[in-house]
Amino acid sequence: MNAVLTPPAARTTPQWQAADAAHYLHPFTDFKALAGKGSRIITHADNIYLWDSDGAKILDAMSGLWCVNVGYGRQELIDAATTQLKELPFYNSFFQTATPPAIELAELLAEVAPPGFRHVFFTGSGSEGNDTIVRMVRRYWDVLGQPERSVIIGRKNGYHGSTMAGASLGGMAGMHAQGGLPIPGIVHIEQPFWFALGKGKSREDFGREAAGWLEAKILEVGADKVAAFIGEPVQGAGGVIVPPSTYWPEIQRICDKYGVLLVSDEVICGFGRTGNWWGCETFGFKPDLMTFAKGVTSGYIPLGGVMVGDRVAKVLIEQGGEFNHGYTYSGHPVACAVALANIRLIQRERLVENVRGDLGPYLARHFAALGDHPLVGEAQSVGMMGALQLVRDKASGALFDEGLEVGMVCRGHCFANGLIMRAVGDRMIIAPPLVMTHAQIDEMVALIHRCLDLTQADVRQRGWA
Ligand SMILES: Cc1ncc(COP(=O)(O)O)c(C=O)c1O
Repeated sequence: MNAVLTPPAARTTPQWQAADAAHYLHPFTDFKALAGKGSRIITHADNIYLWDSDGAKILDAMSGLWCVNVGYGRQELIDAATTQLKELPFYNSFFQTATPPAIELAELLAEVAPPGFRHVFFTGSGSEGNDTIVRMVRRYWDVLGQPERSVIIGRKNGYHGSTMAGASLGGMAGMHAQGGLPIPGIVHIEQPFWFALGKGKSREDFGREAAGWLEAKILEVGADKVAAFIGEPVQGAGGVIVPPSTYWPEIQRICDKYGVLLVSDEVICGFGRTGNWWGCETFGFKPDLMTFAKGVTSGYIPLGGVMVGDRVAKVLIEQGGEFNHGYTYSGHPVACAVALANIRLIQRERLVENVRGDLGPYLARHFAALGDHPLVGEAQSVGMMGALQLVRDKASGALFDEGLEVGMVCRGHCFANGLIMRAVGDRMIIAPPLVMTHAQIDEMVALIHRCLDLTQADVRQRGWA
């Protein structure tokens, strides 16, 4: 034991940064570059604001990582965790046992899920949820006597997590380039990204065309070999790409036509983000399976899972025998207790209805106005998520050279000016908490405007536009 350990609260920012650089490998990070620069140390939070170790206040327009939907510091979630920790901090669900919070949460999730979803399989994260999807859809077809039906179709620039299966279902080129991904039996189609791929066509026509790529892929692979199609209702990590309204209904029609299972990855869109409990409700489709995580506990504690619709549940329950799959933390009682408190809070404060009827439209109006900024080629939002596409030339929509990393320049200004906004290439994205006031949305939009101005000044000064 090290007798001279400094108590955490007493450390200075450079001390935190030195220890961080010495020992801590961060996700999706160039370790060496970050060690040279030093992390920003976030020490505490309240409502929609964070504070760093230098005392700077930051408006968190990303809800942590798309998850702190009810905002920071909600006492009832904290109480739910502490009460459950005292009562029963852990027990598993493997040995024909279950715990009250896991059972009650399964029941409540069935209540808030779309009709036809009455069962849930718990995991510890969204990635594990999508690993479960791969095993479950393949098992489904096995049980039905069609084991050759094992290919799953995902989308380029989709994000489904970082485990071997999650990263394979996703279509992130940078992830596939490391570690021999995707794993066999997973293929991809192009994304419904109008601004990049559909210029010159109406959004509606492009939506139908993009959905048609699924049919072409099913025919290329062979309909008798395709198990499922997976997509996020709105691609989140890919840059908040809101699909045309024609896209998902057409995807549904194609999946129905070929009997392909339809999987909605609701890890970001679930629990109110788009103005309904589930993104598939906003975009008008009925999946067979849904992955969830993040917003189920508002990120206070890790939990994920798969909502299993009747079509799959019936086969697995009535004909499947033992399903050889599960995690130590499937149905963790403390995580489930926090999720119960979180969902009840969302219901009591009518957060979903509020996003749909008030906050979402309010954000949409003010966010759309940012589309007038000379640096912005497109401003898109749905519910409480949005994206600004930065462009070199507003009139033509011409993009900056990728190597310039204008998005990172903008993100740097956000960071320095008390705003967390994420850059995906040159798309600046937000997914703020669902509990914002109008005044806080105004504050956020004003900060974004200021950071766009600062970025534009940089761009001009460097002769990039
Ligand atoms: C749509 C989607 N699916 C899955 C995941 C993976 O979730 P986790 O990071 O909890 O494993 C994410 C994470 O951002 C996500 O956005």
